[in-house]
Amino acid sequence: SRTAAVIPAAGRGVRLGPGAPKALRALGGTPMLIHAIRAMADSRAVSLVVVVAPPDGAAEVKTLLDAHALPDRTDFLVVPGGESRQESVKLGLDALPPGYDIVLVHDAARPLVPVDTVDAVVEAVRGGAPAVVPALPLADTVKQVEPAAPGEPEPVVATPDRSLLRAVQTPQGFDRDTLVRAHATVTGSVTDDASMVERLGLTVVTVPGHEEAFKVTRPLDLVLAEAVLARRRL
Ligand code: C5P
Repeated sequence: SRTAAVIPAAGRGVRLGPGAPKALRALGGTPMLIHAIRAMADSRAVSLVVVVAPPDGAAEVKTLLDAHALPDRTDFLVVPGGESRQESVKLGLDALPPGYDIVLVHDAARPLVPVDTVDAVVEAVRGGAPAVVPALPLADTVKQVEPAAPGEPEPVVATPDRSLLRAVQTPQGFDRDTLVRAHATVTGSVTDDASMVERLGLTVVTVPGHEEAFKVTRPLDLVLAEAVLARRRL
């Protein structure tokens, strides 16, 4: 069985502050996207990486790939993305050649995911799960609130049992046909691909996630990412 990784990298990253699209911001002197691509290509299971670039940035991303050393045994494709993450993933799936029966979807915004986590996801899909997510227990207690008018306090309506909650990361791994069907049939906005498979009525399973697979979203995350990289380079 062959495995491809789709990397949605078309987001603007407004929460990170002003500047280039998030995936093109530097981390240890190298664009975040290049780290994310290497994280996928470092897995021996992955033989194709499809990068979904900002809609007007596909040429720039191709130039970037040519400028950085990437493993020879991996193929690369670059396609333009869409308005939402969901749309960008769909465009990446549409570009997948035949012959890949397992698909990983990995956020460019998670540049430091260790290869062991990638391999564990692929293994679980090979083992027969239609959808697999890396997951970690939560440190914070989570509250559900009722929406309130701007400036008004939000009343808490529930506190889900923290021991049953998980924060999920990427890469998320899928049986290809299942993910294609999910993207063809599930409508409405979602924040990850596995939730679309859940809506098909299928069971999504977890494997252990990793602290270093955190998402670079806010400025403080960049500080943490630089520190993790520096520690790796010791
Ligand atoms: O915004 P968020 O952090 O959830 O984005 C997760 C991933 O989805 C990022 O890698 C981002 O580049 C990607 N994305 C995309 N197309 C969009 C919006 C986000 O590929 N229109």
